[in-house]
Amino acid sequence: MTLRFGHGLVAPTHDAAYRATRAASPECPLADSKTKLILVNSPHHPTGATIGDGEMEALRDFTAERGIQLVSEEVYHPIYHGRQTKSAARLPHATVIADLSKAFSIPGVRTGWMIEHDAQRRQQYWTARAYFSVCNTTTGEILSEIAIRKRDVVLGKTQEAATQNLKLLERFMADHRDVLGWIPPQGGMTAFPGW
Ligand SMILES: Cc1ncc(COP(=O)(O)O)c(C=O)c1O
Repeated sequence: MTLRFGHGLVAPTHDAAYRATRAASPECPLADSKTKLILVNSPHHPTGATIGDGEMEALRDFTAERGIQLVSEEVYHPIYHGRQTKSAARLPHATVIADLSKAFSIPGVRTGWMIEHDAQRRQQYWTARAYFSVCNTTTGEILSEIAIRKRDVVLGKTQEAATQNLKLLERFMADHRDVLGWIPPQGGMTAFPGW
């Protein structure tokens, strides 16, 4: 599915990306022999599209067969409005990146994480990280730890707010359907209307 907007922007949804992956046709290859890494973001910002568990496993097969690193960016996980999807952390071939900025809603702490099953890559990340920064803020780390320990409460509040806000937005979109169109988000806290 492709969203087309009056101002010329064309936004392929995950459906289109997924079909392109499976087809991997010469006319429209998602990857070629030079591709080193494929990064996906689910729930996606800004469309709110999500990649289903089966689709993520197909992507894992596609990338693993070709020696391509698969990176799954999951900062809006686990906020969902339809089907729930699992973290790609369950797939040994996948690298997962996430942070506390979105689903946890505390961007000020500047805390994030990676889940990497490959020991050599982990060492490379450590080395690269050491070039950029000496350490995080101590207070940020303390607040992050509290939020993660209380994750059921914190994530529950985000889900509640996102669910309520989406209901309001659905009403607004219905009231203005003559000028606005959208594919309702399946996850996260953003949507991507067009006009
Ligand atoms: C999908 C996604 N990932 C990562 C970020 C970065 O968030 P931060 O810099 O607060 O960690 C954003 C910010 O909008 C985002 O939308």
